[in-house]
Amino acid sequence: MELSEQICEAADAVRGYWNQTARIGIVLGTGLSQLATQIEADCCVPCHQIPHLPSATALGHKGQWVCGKLGSVPVIALDGRFHRYEGYSLQQITLPIRIMRQLGVDTLILSNASGGVSPRLNSGDILVIDDHLNLMWDNPLIGPNEETLGPRFPDMSRPYNEGLITAALEIARQRGYAASRGVYAAFTGPNYETRAEYRMLRYLGADVIGMSTVPEVIVAAHAGMRVLALSVVTNVCQPDTLGTTSGSEVLEIARSTEPKVTDLVQELITSRLAAETCGNIP
Ligand code: HPA
Repeated sequence: MELSEQICEAADAVRGYWNQTARIGIVLGTGLSQLATQIEADCCVPCHQIPHLPSATALGHKGQWVCGKLGSVPVIALDGRFHRYEGYSLQQITLPIRIMRQLGVDTLILSNASGGVSPRLNSGDILVIDDHLNLMWDNPLIGPNEETLGPRFPDMSRPYNEGLITAALEIARQRGYAASRGVYAAFTGPNYETRAEYRMLRYLGADVIGMSTVPEVIVAAHAGMRVLALSVVTNVCQPDTLGTTSGSEVLEIARSTEPKVTDLVQELITSRLAAETCGNIP
């Protein structure tokens, strides 16, 4: 079955639960699902009810779609994303982005947990991603290209929307949250990195390293969507003084920073994006 047929079947299934249209889609990262509880939900659709989606197996990921309103703004939030390390292809893990696009979403807000490679970053900082390094040695767009979904050779000169980056940084500054912009690099995982790898990542120009987001952003760029991605630094990755890292520690720090990310995204959507018909975010 062609990808576009899978997308249509899956979108029809979601429409069976929720007949409204959302322009904003949200993907919640590790330990960052609290935002979903702020949504005045009309329905929660478990991933296994949506055809062609894999099942969510990752730590701290629920695997459901929450459809409803944040303030006055209709949104769809994916509470639990899919990762390459779960054994799924990049095409499978990015299917939710395609489905959201089919449902009318044109603005995507992503969150994730990451290791801080830049020496200026501390645990609990928020990095507003302004560019990325795809170090997964794979690409979700490999295979026949369906022109209805996007161009064969998509532009990637600015996959992260400048207006949204500026707005997010401005809100963080007003709130007194430690936030800056920078480059996110993605490995497949699931292991955390060696000291030599963290050193290499710094040389390559990465500010943070994680195991998600980049495939989703590539597909969003292919589909012509506007993207904002926020990364919570959960561990400091300085090769010369490196401690050990565990999934439960990453989850704990992500959860303790979560109220700031939730507040930031909520403010962005309910005050800035809600007023967008006035054209204040390019
Ligand atoms: N490396 C990769 N992914 C991560 C890390 C890390 O150090 N921390 C949180 N997610």
